[in-house]
Amino acid sequence: MLSKNIQDALNSQIKIEAESSQIYLAMACWAEVKGLEGVANFMYAQSDEEREHMLKLVKFVNERGGHAQISELKAPNVTFKSFKEMFKKLFEHEVFVSQSINELVHISLQEKDYATHNFLQWYVAEQIEEEAVARNILDKINMIGDDKGGLYLFDRDIENLTVTTAATNAPE
Ligand code: FEO
Repeated sequence: MLSKNIQDALNSQIKIEAESSQIYLAMACWAEVKGLEGVANFMYAQSDEEREHMLKLVKFVNERGGHAQISELKAPNVTFKSFKEMFKKLFEHEVFVSQSINELVHISLQEKDYATHNFLQWYVAEQIEEEAVARNILDKINMIGDDKGGLYLFDRDIENLTVTTAATNAPE
C-alpha cells in the first residue's frame, strides 16, 4: 500500500511524464512543418516513449492500492528560434526529469518504501540513457551550427538514432 506522500509524489511524476510527451509532440510538429522528417520522427518516437513512462507509473500506482491522477497539463512551447534551441530545450528538460526522479527515489527511501524504490530503478537507468542521447544530439547540433547541408545530413542521421533508442529503451 502506498503512503499518501509517495502517492502524491508518483502522481506528480505522472504529470511530468505526460507533459514531456506533449513537449516532444510539439517539437515533432515544428520539425515536421520545417521539413526535417528525421528530426520529426525522432521526436514522435520520444513523445511515445514518454507516454509509456507515464503509463508504467499509472499502472504501478493503481496496482499498489493507490489511484493514479490524470491531470490537466501545461501547454508546451510550439515554436522555436532554431533547431539548436529546440535540442537545448530537450536536453534541459531531460535534466529536469532526472532531478525529479532523484527526488522521488529520495522520498521512497525516507518513507522506507522499498518496493517503490525498486520500481524507480528502471527510471534511474532510463534517465542516464535519455540524458546521454540528448547530450549527444546537442553536441552534433553545436558542431553543425547554421550549416544547411550539415542539418540535412543530421536529419538523415537522427533516424538511425531513433531506431536504436526505440529498441534499447522499449518499456517492459
Ligand atoms: Fe520520461 Fe524523458 O523522461
